[in-house]
Amino acid sequence: ANARITVHTAADIDRIEPEVHGHFSEHLGRCVYEGLWTSDSADEDGYREDVVELLADLEIPVLRWPGGCFADDYHWEDGVGPQEDRPRRRNLFWAQGPEDLPEESNAFGTDEFLQLCERIGTEPYLAANVGSGSPQEAANWVEYCNYDGDTELADRRRENGHEEPYGVKYWGLGNENWGCGGQMSPEQYAREYRRYATYVGTQSNLMFDHDIELIACGFEGHEWNRRFLEEINQSRWGVEFPLDHLTLHHYYGRGMNIDEADEDQYDRMLVEALEMERHIERMAGAINAVATTRDIGVIIDEWGTWHPEATADNGLEQPGTVLDALSAAAVLDVFNHYSDVLTMTNIAQTVNVLQCLIETDEDEAWARPTYRVFDLYAPHKGSEAVQTSVDTPTRELDDDEDRELPLVGASASVDDDETYVTVTNLDCREEKTIEVALEGVDLDSATVEAELLFADHDADAEVDADNAEEFTAEELDVSVDSDTLIAELPASTVAGIS
Ligand code: AHR
Repeated sequence: ANARITVHTAADIDRIEPEVHGHFSEHLGRCVYEGLWTSDSADEDGYREDVVELLADLEIPVLRWPGGCFADDYHWEDGVGPQEDRPRRRNLFWAQGPEDLPEESNAFGTDEFLQLCERIGTEPYLAANVGSGSPQEAANWVEYCNYDGDTELADRRRENGHEEPYGVKYWGLGNENWGCGGQMSPEQYAREYRRYATYVGTQSNLMFDHDIELIACGFEGHEWNRRFLEEINQSRWGVEFPLDHLTLHHYYGRGMNIDEADEDQYDRMLVEALEMERHIERMAGAINAVATTRDIGVIIDEWGTWHPEATADNGLEQPGTVLDALSAAAVLDVFNHYSDVLTMTNIAQTVNVLQCLIETDEDEAWARPTYRVFDLYAPHKGSEAVQTSVDTPTRELDDDEDRELPLVGASASVDDDETYVTVTNLDCREEKTIEVALEGVDLDSATVEAELLFADHDADAEVDADNAEEFTAEELDVSVDSDTLIAELPASTVAGIS
C-alpha cells in the first residue's frame, strides 16, 4: 500500500461543531447581488431560488455577513426599511467590482439577510463595524435584531415585517482591524473591543432573552494575539465583559502560471493550505498562555483559495477547480483534528467570489467541486472526532527541500456505532492504494459504504454550468482484508468511507 491510515476509534478529540462547516458572504462583486439576490431567476421576495435551493440542500450551519472589509464601513441602518428610502452608497473597499455594480444600493440589508438565514435554516453571524462605526451603532443593531420590548428599534423591526426577535447569536466585533478595519495595533484594538463589548455584550445579555456570543478579530501568528489578549486582561474593576471566540483568516493560492497545469505549484499551494494547522496551534497557544480565566474558542472566519487572477477588478472571481476542492478536503481534515479548540469556520465566499461553493450566471446556478467536498464531509458534522495516524509518502517542494507535502490526508469521526473516515489523495500525479484500519471495529459484521469524488477529472479541471453534474460522487470499491479496508484512490480524489 502507498498509505496506511489507522483510526483510533476510542481516542476522542472532541465534538466537531457543525459551525465548523460555516460560510461567509460579503457585499463584494457578485456574491450578494447576482449571487444571493435578484436575477432573472429571483423569487417574489428577490432571493435567487436556484441558489437558495443549493444552500438549503447543503444544510449550512452558519453564515457570516456583511463582510469582510465591507463590514468595516457598513452602517446597518442604511439597509433597513422601505427599499425606495434606502440610501445609495459607495462601496469603499470593493468599488472596483463589475462595471454595473460599483456602488451599494442597500437593497439587501439586515432583514433580507436574516430572512434568508431563516429560509435555509442557518444561524446568522453578523459582523459589526468597529472600523468606522460606534459602539452605540453596534448595540442598536443588536437591539433591532433581538429585542422583544417596546422600544423604537424593536418597533422598527416589527414595522419592517418581523414581529418576533431574530435572536442572532453570533456577533463579530470588527474584521481585520489590523488592516482594512482601521490599521490598529493589538493594544488599540483591545481597547476598542472592550468599549464595544461593554455596550454590545454585557448590556445586551442583561436585557435580551437571547444570549449572544462575541467574536474578536485576531491575526495570523502568536504575537499579535498575545498582545491583544494581554491588553484585554488589563480591564479595570474586574469586569468580565464577554469574549467568546477569537478569529483569524487564512488564504492561499497557486502561482501566476495559470495557463498550463503545473503540478509543482499545486503541491506548493496544498502545503500552504495545510499551514492552517500551524495557525490554529499558534492561536490556541496564545489563548492558553494569556487568557487563562476565559474559555475562548478559535474561529477561522475566512479561509480558502485566493488565486492571482482574482482581483478587485473582477470582483475576486476565479475558476472552480478540483484542485481547490482538494485543498478544502485537506483543510476540513485539519479542522477535525483540532475539534477541541475550533468553534466555527467560514469558507470565503458562498457565491461567485473566491472559493465559492456556488456559481451563477443570469439563468442558472451550479455547484462547484468544493460544494461536493462539503457534501461528502457533512456526516462529520456534530460527530466526535477521533485520532487518526496516517503513514503516507511525501513529496519535497521543488523550490524548498525543507517543506514537503504529505500525499495522503485523512480524518475520522464516530457517531453512535458508526465511524466515518474521509481520505484525500493530494497527489495530483499518481493514484494511491490506501489501507484503513479501524481499531476495535469488527469488519466481518460491518457494512461498508464508500463514495469517491473527482475520479474522472484532473486537478486543473474547471466546473461550468454544463459539466457541473460530472463532479458528483460515485461509488468507491472497497475490499476487506482481515481487519483492514483497502481501496484505490486515483490522483487528486477524495473519498468518504463509513
Ligand atoms: O474575502 C475577501 C476579503 O479578504 C475580505 O473582505 C477581507 O476581510 C479579507 O482580506
